[in-house]
Amino acid sequence: MAIKYSEKVIEHFQNPHNVGKIENPDAEATEGSPACGDQLSVYLKVDPESHRIKDIKFQSYGCASNIATASIITDLATNKTIEEAKKITWNQAADELGGLPPVKMHCSVLAVDALRSAIKYYEKKHLGKKFDEGLNKKNIENELNKVIYGKIGVDIVSLRLVKYIGVDEKNNVLIEIVLKKDDPFLEDLQHEINERLGKFPDIGEIKISLI
Ligand code: FES
Repeated sequence: MAIKYSEKVIEHFQNPHNVGKIENPDAEATEGSPACGDQLSVYLKVDPESHRIKDIKFQSYGCASNIATASIITDLATNKTIEEAKKITWNQAADELGGLPPVKMHCSVLAVDALRSAIKYYEKKHLGKKFDEGLNKKNIENELNKVIYGKIGVDIVSLRLVKYIGVDEKNNVLIEIVLKKDDPFLEDLQHEINERLGKFPDIGEIKISLI
């Protein structure tokens, strides 16, 4: 069945705003979507006094929804301070576009993820900020928070599908999820969880248990 897009998604897909690369950017980041393997790069120029985003551009290797959400988040982030831009969410991007089909919400997650990573790069490089990026419950939950249950288009943490997150002394991770064995989205979820958590360099075994 063909996926139905809003007029605004089609408009931003056909005429995306802020496409391209900034030479000598203050920050840049490329993120990939574990859900589909597509990629997005975001480049920023930031005013050093006000920390306002003066210029932002993107290059997408993703689908129509990703191009449209990247276009809208770059519009939303322009002239915002980095603190304000950090608060842009994928739901907000999808709402601004008149909604996205549930199976395409992960494309909006990719757009916001790349923007937030570019901001984080800026904060590390120019503001000397340090981040806790270790393997712990909070950071695992942050990653699971980006895993979208495609049937509904909402992340598995907000949907309360994640019942337990545990890390043992060998860095093995146990995640308990409320989902039926025959759920058609189960395989995609398991794959995405493994991909996202695989980013922690010292992670041991990842066990996903269904309850
Ligand atoms: Fe990959 Fe949309 S399907 S970004």
